[in-house]
Amino acid sequence: MRFPPLVERVSGDGADAWVTHYHAAAARARGEDVLLLSIGDPDLGTIPAVIDRAIEQLRAGDIHYTPAAGRPALLEAIARLHHTRCGQSVSPENIVFVAGAQNALFVASMCLAGSGDEVITLDPMYTTYPATIEVSGARMVRAPTGAGFRPDLQALESRVNSSTRAILWASPGNPSGIILNERELEAIGRIAQQHDLWLIVDEVYAGLAPGGRVPSLAATLPERVVTISSLSKSHAMPGMRSGWLVGPRQFAAHAQSLAMCMLFGLPGFIQEAVITALSVADDAERRIRELCETRRAYLLAGLEGIAGIRAVPPDAGMFMLADVSDTGLSAHEFMLRLYEQERVSVMDGAAFGHQTRRFVRICFATDESTIDSACARIRRFCARLRG
Ligand SMILES: Cc1ncc(COP(=O)(O)O)c(C=O)c1O
Repeated sequence: MRFPPLVERVSGDGADAWVTHYHAAAARARGEDVLLLSIGDPDLGTIPAVIDRAIEQLRAGDIHYTPAAGRPALLEAIARLHHTRCGQSVSPENIVFVAGAQNALFVASMCLAGSGDEVITLDPMYTTYPATIEVSGARMVRAPTGAGFRPDLQALESRVNSSTRAILWASPGNPSGIILNERELEAIGRIAQQHDLWLIVDEVYAGLAPGGRVPSLAATLPERVVTISSLSKSHAMPGMRSGWLVGPRQFAAHAQSLAMCMLFGLPGFIQEAVITALSVADDAERRIRELCETRRAYLLAGLEGIAGIRAVPPDAGMFMLADVSDTGLSAHEFMLRLYEQERVSVMDGAAFGHQTRRFVRICFATDESTIDSACARIRRFCARLRG
C-alpha cells in the first residue's frame, strides 16, 4: 500500500531521537533501576487544587463537547497570563487553546507556511521542530547560533530569501536554555519587518525564566508575532496536554478552524482544571522555577571535576548541555554507553542540531537524590573510560 510524502516528513531525525529515551522509560516502568534524565517532565506533582477541580468537573458530568477554541473563561484566563508575561493586551479572539505547546507548534506550522515556503529556526532546536515545520510541506532552514548558543544575527539574516515565511525559536531555548535578550529581539523584529515574516515564539519555559518573564516582541509587533505556551513545564502537568497560541485575530481564526477539524474541542474538565491552574499561576511558576534554579546549581556542582565533561549552565529552564568530546566518545556513543553501563538516560545533543553534536542534554527537573546518583554514575563511567 502507498502512503503520501507527509509520512516521510514526520518521521525524520526528531522522531528517532526519542528511541533511547523510550527504552529507558519502558525499563523504568518495569521497575528497573534507571535514572531518566532524558526528558523535561518535572518530577513533581502538580497543584492539588488542579486535580481536585478536574475530578469535581468529571463527577459533575463535564464530559460533553466544548467550543473549538476553548471556553471563554479559559481564554480570558490565558489572556491575563499572557499580558502579565509580555505586556501584550489580547482578547479571547486572539487565542486558541490546544493540546499542549507541541500541538500549538503544529497548528502554527500548518497555518503560516506550506509547500515551497521556508521557515528558519535557530540551531540547536527542540527535537520535534524539523518534523513539525516540514509537516506543512515547508522546508526548514537552520540558522546556526554563535558563542554560548546565542543567535548569530548575521547568519540568521543571510538565511532569509523570498521563500521565507517565518522565523521560529524558543525562549528560553531547549536544549540551550538561552533567553533571547532585547537587542537580539530588536534585530529579529527588524528582519521580520523588512521581509514581511511571521515570528513564531515558543515560550513553553517562560514561567521558569527569572520572574516568570522573558523579553518579547508580542506587544511591539502584534501583527506578526504568534506566541505559544503551555502548562506542561510551569505547572508540572504535561500529561494534561494544555497549551495555547496567541496571535493576530485572523491567524487565530485560521488556527481555530484547524483545531476544529483536528480536535473538535478539548475536554471540559481539563479546561476547568486549567482555569484553576492559571488562577495560581504566579505561585505555581515560582515553585517550579525555584526548584529548577536549585537543581541547576546542584547538577552543576555534581558534574564539576568529572574528567571529560564540560557543563554549560543555561539562563533558565530544566536542561543542561554538557560537552563530552574530551571523553573521546561522540555524544551518541556517550549516550548509548552511559545507558548500557550505568542505566542513566540522557539525550544525544545531535538530536537538537549540528551545533550540539559534541554535547549531551541532561534534565535536572528531578529530586536531588536522583541527580546525586546520576552524577556518581557519570563520574564512574567517565573514570572507566579514562582507565
Ligand atoms: C521547546 C519546547 N516546545 C514545546 C514542547 C512541548 O510542550 P507541551 O508538553 O506543552 O506540548 C517542549 C517539550 O519538551 C519543548 O521543550
